[in-house]
Formats: sequence, C-alpha cells, structure tokens
Amino acid sequence: MYKPLEIAKDLYYVGVNDRTKHLFENLWPLPYGVSYNAYIIDDEKKALIDTVDVCYSDLFFQKVTRVLGDKPIDYLIVNHMEPDHSGSIGLLLSRYPNIQIVGNKHTVKMLKGYYGITQHVGVVEDMQTLSLGRNTLQFYLTPMVHWPETMMTYLQEQQVLFSADAFGTFGTLDGGVLDSQLIPERYRGEMIRYYSNIVGKFGSPVQTALKKLAEVPIGTICSTHGPVWTEKENIAEVVTLYDRLSRYEAESGLVIAYGSMYGHTEQLAELIANEAATHGVRNIVLHNVSKSHISDIIRDVFTYKGLIVGSPTYNNKLYPEVESLLSALQNRYLKNRFFGYFGSFTWADASSKQLAAFVNESEVELVSDPVIMKQAMLEEIEEKARMLGKSMACKLLSGAAVSPGRNTDCH
Ligand code: FEO
Repeated sequence: MYKPLEIAKDLYYVGVNDRTKHLFENLWPLPYGVSYNAYIIDDEKKALIDTVDVCYSDLFFQKVTRVLGDKPIDYLIVNHMEPDHSGSIGLLLSRYPNIQIVGNKHTVKMLKGYYGITQHVGVVEDMQTLSLGRNTLQFYLTPMVHWPETMMTYLQEQQVLFSADAFGTFGTLDGGVLDSQLIPERYRGEMIRYYSNIVGKFGSPVQTALKKLAEVPIGTICSTHGPVWTEKENIAEVVTLYDRLSRYEAESGLVIAYGSMYGHTEQLAELIANEAATHGVRNIVLHNVSKSHISDIIRDVFTYKGLIVGSPTYNNKLYPEVESLLSALQNRYLKNRFFGYFGSFTWADASSKQLAAFVNESEVELVSDPVIMKQAMLEEIEEKARMLGKSMACKLLSGAAVSPGRNTDCH
C-alpha cells in the first residue's frame, strides 16, 4: 500500500473511497461514489480525527498502521457520530483499548446508545483546547451541522479546520486527496446535491456555525467527505457556497418539476418553459418527477431562484412523486423562491388545491395565477400557461411583475 498523504506537518489522510455503495443513507444515489475522510495528527500525543464506515475498517486500519506503526493512539476526536464516520469506533477500541475518546455532551449519549461505550470518554466544552505537543486542537461546537453532537476541530498552529460534514461533497478522491491534486469544478454539482439533500434542512444552524467561525483564519479545510480544501480560492468558494445555500439564495434560473401520466401535464410544462425561454431565461431545467431522481431535483431547486411545479390529480390527491418532492422541500424549509404551479384533472380537481396549500404553508412568492387544465389543452389554457412562463421570466430577469393581458416584453 502507498504511504498515506501528509497533508501538512504531522497531519495525515487516512480516509477511504467507497465506489461500491449505491445509495448514501440508503436513499441518495452515488454515481461518483463517496469518500469517508479521517485524519491522523502524529505529534507527541497521537490523535485520530473521526473514523470511517465499518465496511472499510480493514483498509482504514492498514492506513493508520502505515502512519503510526505500532505506536498507540492517544485520542480519538469524534466530530460527528453518524455511522459513516463513527462506524469503526468499536473495532478501534478493540485495537487501541486505552484510547481516550473526545466528544461533547451529546456525543457521550450517542457513544453509549450506538456502541455501549461509557469508558475513556472525555467531554469537551465549546472553544476548549487540547495540546498534543507541537499542535493544539480547539473544539467548536456546531450543533445540527448535521446532527446535535456535530462539532468542528481546529488545529491552531497550522490553521486546519476539521469541519465534519460541512464543506463536504459526494464523489470519490480519484488519485489525489487535495484540491490541488484534483479538478475541484468536477465536485460542484455533487457538493450542491450533498448540501441540499443531506444538510439542506439545517440552513439556520449552518449560518450560526459560519458566524462562529468568521474570525477563525482557515488555511485548510478537512471535511469528512470529498477533497481537502487547501487553495485560497477554493476555500473561499466552498465557504461562500455554504453561506449562500444556507441562506436559500439562488442563481437566476428556473426549475419546472412535473408529474404526467399521459403527457397532457407535460405539454403545459413545455409551454411554460418555452415562454420563459422566449423571454430570456436561459437556465431552465425540466424534471419529469417520475424519471429524475428527487435528489437531482432538490439540487436544482437549491440552485435556481424560480420553481414551477405541475401535477395531475391522482386518486383525489397530488401525483405521488410530486407530493414527495413538495414534502422534501418543506422539510428543508425552502424559502426565497419565485413560485408558480399548474395542474390537470379529468373529473375532479384536487392537485391544484394541494399546490395552493403548499404556497400558503411555504415562504415562496407566487408569480402568476395557476394554470388548471381539464382533460386536454384548450386555447385559453395555453394562453394562461404562457402567462405563467412570461411572469416567471419577468420576475427572474427584472423583478418586475407582469399583469394579465400585458403582452409587452419585460426586459
Ligand atoms: Fe457524513 Fe452526517 O455524516
């Protein structure tokens, strides 16, 4: 095996790549895999920062041994207890029975609950420090980024932030580990998909964490997933991205997500998209909810400012996949979006009422009247669909509302 990468003086990467698992959390597709990152600080005292998914524990321990040989590990710093990072703790204890586990008061309960561990556990408070010799660790409690016990660990002398899930991304580390050894742009879409699906519900705690860290000089970010960020511009970009996404700010662009059994509702989606494009919107993504994976739709909804949702009535309710999407968006407290909706039915309209309820329960701004189609397209319905597309375009491109009947270009 190759020697684990020395990221900075005394600091080694001992994480692993997972190209086997199909679904992260048994929910989210991993077309490009995922890495579980762990790190060792080889100082007078040896510290391990997090572990890896238990399926990769053999490889992980081989890497640890390559760095430390038969020297003992003094501390395991547990930044996050989700099993993709804590899964090898039990095996770690069987190899290093004298290791001291370092976490916060929430970590302690989870160590006991998940693994029955109650001994050799040290509790740290917010901002507390721990000297390893040449290096000093400082702990920043960042609850709910992504679980209650989540914390970040800062290596003061080298300005390295071990950020737990924050600034992480799906995608394996192919060849390199550092951003300077990889092509960071390749991770951008997967980083937004990771944030929006895994962390997206916790925008407010992410904002709190970012404010807490605002004055901390960061030279390197070691997340639990994806590249180690070392280059100034990449660090600025991922921090800015997290700041923007957690404030629910988005780029100018439009997502149209629709369900359609026989293509009638899809015709409305096409018309609306066509009209938005005619009026200048260029970033338009149509998602057939029966085909697109919901994680891709959520990624795009977090990326773009405009959202239009369409659903036929199905068993006197929304189309099931549309219902799932709306539920997922509400679960993530989606806000700050221009919104429109359209529906269709054969004998009794129910979908538009539930789409209207979504508007009432969410912090979205309705840009135009909904379009409701009975059975098939009529000229007046086409006109309304075009008005919805145009109104959305005007909102996205100029912020100006378009009143019904007004046909002038809005830009
Ligand atoms: Fe990668 Fe929240 O665990």
